[in-house]
Amino acid sequence: MSEKLVIRGGRKLAGTISVDGAKNSAVALIPAAILAESEVVLEGLPEISDVFTLYNIIGELGGNVQFDKNKAIIDPSHLTAMPLPNGNVKKLRASYYLMGAMLGRFKKAVVGLPGGCYLGPRPIDQHIKGFEALGAKVTNEQGAIYLRADELRGARIYLDVVSVGATINIMLAAVRAKGKTVIENAAKEPEIIDVATLLNNMGANIKGVGTDTIRIQGVEHLHGCHHTIIPDRIEAGTYMVLAAACSSEQGIRIENIIPDHIEGIHAKLSEMGVPMQLEDDAVVVGGAVDYKKVDIKTYAYPGFPTDLQQPLTALLTQAEGNSVVTDTIYPSRFKHIAELGRMGGQFKLEGRSAVVLGKTDLQGAKVTATDLRAGAALVIAGLLANGTTEIFGVEHIERGYSKIIEKLTSIGAEIAKVSEEETFVS
Ligand code: EPU
Repeated sequence: MSEKLVIRGGRKLAGTISVDGAKNSAVALIPAAILAESEVVLEGLPEISDVFTLYNIIGELGGNVQFDKNKAIIDPSHLTAMPLPNGNVKKLRASYYLMGAMLGRFKKAVVGLPGGCYLGPRPIDQHIKGFEALGAKVTNEQGAIYLRADELRGARIYLDVVSVGATINIMLAAVRAKGKTVIENAAKEPEIIDVATLLNNMGANIKGVGTDTIRIQGVEHLHGCHHTIIPDRIEAGTYMVLAAACSSEQGIRIENIIPDHIEGIHAKLSEMGVPMQLEDDAVVVGGAVDYKKVDIKTYAYPGFPTDLQQPLTALLTQAEGNSVVTDTIYPSRFKHIAELGRMGGQFKLEGRSAVVLGKTDLQGAKVTATDLRAGAALVIAGLLANGTTEIFGVEHIERGYSKIIEKLTSIGAEIAKVSEEETFVS
């Protein structure tokens, strides 16, 4: 049965929210476990549907996953290179990591082209270029990618675009290749460092992660280990924006953060005039009375993250004057604009930019989360708005935000998940 979120807006919120493990690390760490030949224990995983889907996929491949809350014990010793042309792999974008991981372990893989959020075209040509450079033959047959190699040999790979997915996928395929691989123009996101940390603890030899050039010396075997995931900087950033929008004077404390990872959003909220206090692993965010307009341009890390562009747009409707949001990573990641428009937001779309015309009063409405971060933007708008907002497409939000209803209820929000058929009077 389909469900929707119902939010009664306009309340001031206060309290503490704890951030969970990073979705975009988790969805790579679980496939990375395939490369080991004994048990991998992952701690701090977020309880989100993308993670549960990956557990199911590991099970389909013959692996054993035992999980309890945030901890998973993955035994990949009996895995086989079972083809995965359809089914669960279509549910998430990150199923492309199964390509690199299975290629690395079995020298072959069949993986259906990934699903996930539609943010405009999301090619994987750089992943494939990397696999081919390592010696794999890659073909696309009826919507599934077939990869085969007699052996994988280290290579020098220059990425034409800075890509998180391609950087991680090539690392996964290269850690057990013969000889040395160099990835040039690599992405530098913290999630990449997290995956490399896991692989190195499994016995891999990866150097230079977090810089443009990653060097990998292949090893023959990888073994199990214990690893604790990094906190989710996008979840943290989303709650910072939400707190900036709805916090009472007392502020909302967001715990389990790495301050370096949230610099972009911290800087922009500061420019908007939002009061914040940074601690070693927490930030307290208060609501501002008058928000200043700011312009945003998304870039690869450490630039401002594309994933926070949508949530921040909801807050920018409250700033005096016009703010320009430009997404250089996904120029058409603006599906949330039409939905925020239903709530009274005013925007102009100009090429790869959205101009947010402020300040507007938001009103509750029936809206649809077209993708994960659009959903986060609508939750923030719903909390800000007068009246009741109903958000359809909850499954997108649940792919990436662990226990969002519990977390928001605990700081005083009126939010519930109900069946789509239920009606509400505001
Ligand atoms: N690109 C190519 N060719 C490729 C790969 C990427 O042209 O082979 C382009 C993309 O079209 C895009 C840019 O390069 O314009 C960067 O894409 P990237 O590969 O870095 O993105 P991704 O790995 O597919 C991850 C996150 C996204 C996040 C982006 C950018 C995961 C599973 N997804 O996607 O997260 O927006 O990096 O930081 O890690 C989200 O969490 O909501 C989300 C969409």
